Amino acid sequence: MLNSSTNLPAKLPINLIDQFGRTVDYIRLSITDRCDFRCVYCMAEKMTFLPREEVLSLEECVRLVKVFVSLGVSKVRITGGEPLVRKNALWLLEEIGKLARLNELVLTTNGSQLENQAQDLKNAGVKRINISVDSLDAARFKKITRTGELDKVLRGIQAAKLVGFENIKLNSVLMRGVNDDELLTLVNFAIAQAIDISFIEEMPLGDVNHTRESTFCSNVDTLKILQSEFPLVSSTESTGGPARYWRVANTDTKIGFISPHSHNFCESCNRVRISCKGELYLCLGQEDKVDLMPLLRNNPENDQPLIDAILGSMATKPKGHDFDLKRAEPAVIRFMSHTGG
Ligand code: 5AD
Ligand code: SF4
Repeated sequence: MLNSSTNLPAKLPINLIDQFGRTVDYIRLSITDRCDFRCVYCMAEKMTFLPREEVLSLEECVRLVKVFVSLGVSKVRITGGEPLVRKNALWLLEEIGKLARLNELVLTTNGSQLENQAQDLKNAGVKRINISVDSLDAARFKKITRTGELDKVLRGIQAAKLVGFENIKLNSVLMRGVNDDELLTLVNFAIAQAIDISFIEEMPLGDVNHTRESTFCSNVDTLKILQSEFPLVSSTESTGGPARYWRVANTDTKIGFISPHSHNFCESCNRVRISCKGELYLCLGQEDKVDLMPLLRNNPENDQPLIDAILGSMATKPKGHDFDLKRAEPAVIRFMSHTGG
């Protein structure tokens, strides 16, 4: 029997395994390069966004996700840009949420739309959400995001808590002299809210006019500071991502560290990224990619070319990234909002 949507034998267990034996079971799909914020490490002040026809339609996104799920992908993260500013993003999440073979549908958001959308997201089947918050000071939050309103995001976090996602995690990019003095405040906030928090080392992505070496905060130092302030218990829990977690004893909070610089997590990489243009990026820090959009558009009724390209890409997934703060140019000049964070 053939599965009509993929032309694959219905129960054939095909998995995506790359040239180094790593199984790829997680995709991160950016559904828009647009965002209502302009975070300093992510975007330039004046951004030119892609014209609509160069971005995958939501129907194309669903088709792509279905194909990946038929190839053994069990976790999908929808990201952006800000995914929730895309019109009908909810429809997409509902369609993906219906896929029986998918274990986990998760979302990365800046929180600006959560106040109104949290319940619908939960109903659509979104299990966990990551919300980016780099400061709890309204003026500073505005400075970092250039346009963001902290209050609105805080109301979004409350709305998310009320609807009861399986997990809510804050993501913070610490920058020396910008917000590193808020480290303890951010952790105490997460503890008070009984949610998790991860610290992400800033990655050299995109042509943002920002001196990274001088603002770089190593997670090695961040962990040391936190260990002297909180009883941290090393946790073996993993969310299938590169974060390493520590539980704050006697609280409901875990602290994660995403450390592309101080800890190389590539050897256990289980993911690929798809940009809003349908480019399949095999590694966040490398240029290797496959253009899936023409395969989608030239073969509206036949998924086989798409499947062949995805299977073939596994032989080109690089061993790891190549970030170097001391380089004059970013290793990869690509906006996170384009590839998806
Ligand atoms: N370095 C590290 N993190 C980044 N993000 C966006 N750009 C960068 C960067 N250059 C983060 C955001 C958000 C997530 C999607 O990615 O803070 O939490
Ligand atoms: Fe928008 Fe997230 Fe980029 Fe900030 S980091 S500009 S919220 S996509």
